[in-house]
Amino acid sequence: MTIAAFCGSLRKHSLNRSVVNHMDQTSDDIQVLSLEDIPLFNADLEEQGEPEAVFDFKKAIKEAEAVLIVTPEYSHSMPGVLKNALDWAGSMTYENVLDGKPVMIAGASPSVLGTAFAQEHLRVTLAACGAHTMPQPEIFIGKAAEKIDKDGKLIDQGTIDFLESALNGFRVYANGINNL
Ligand code: FNR
Repeated sequence: MTIAAFCGSLRKHSLNRSVVNHMDQTSDDIQVLSLEDIPLFNADLEEQGEPEAVFDFKKAIKEAEAVLIVTPEYSHSMPGVLKNALDWAGSMTYENVLDGKPVMIAGASPSVLGTAFAQEHLRVTLAACGAHTMPQPEIFIGKAAEKIDKDGKLIDQGTIDFLESALNGFRVYANGINNL
């Protein structure tokens, strides 16, 4: 299986990037994508031909069998950086590469709720794009600053085990969706 994975934070020491990196380092089927060079969505740019970073991002999603999104929570929603990338990927005016895609979502935050509000919104956006977001388990990594060290390493065994089991479940879920 190929799983295209990205996080909704551009921050170098992002907790959410650390989660993506951990999953990448412990699996051999994850391809990490960056949102760094993706411009603000503008349908005029799309009409002129997608910017290169958008083209590459969408191509990687299109070619992947599944998608993993790890989101921070900003003001009880997903960051604009992530919503913007999804606006490009799930474009209603050009090509929607999220349509029919199996997606697993997760999120990490220093607060106890672990991005529960943001993930609620993310689920709604992904449903609007036609993606199949795995309903369970919900992966809320709360108090993440205590579970990830300053070098970005996951140090909480419970979280490590939970992520491994969720990802194994996701592979089964994604195969099921792709064989519908
Ligand atoms: C936050 N943060 C935050 N956390 C949370 O649990 N609920 C929230 O609503 C918010 N709101 C919020 C708004 C803005 C503008 C910022 C910058 C931050 C804190 C946030 O979870 C924390 O900064 C994380 O470390 C961000 O994720 P990364 O960059 O570490 O992946």
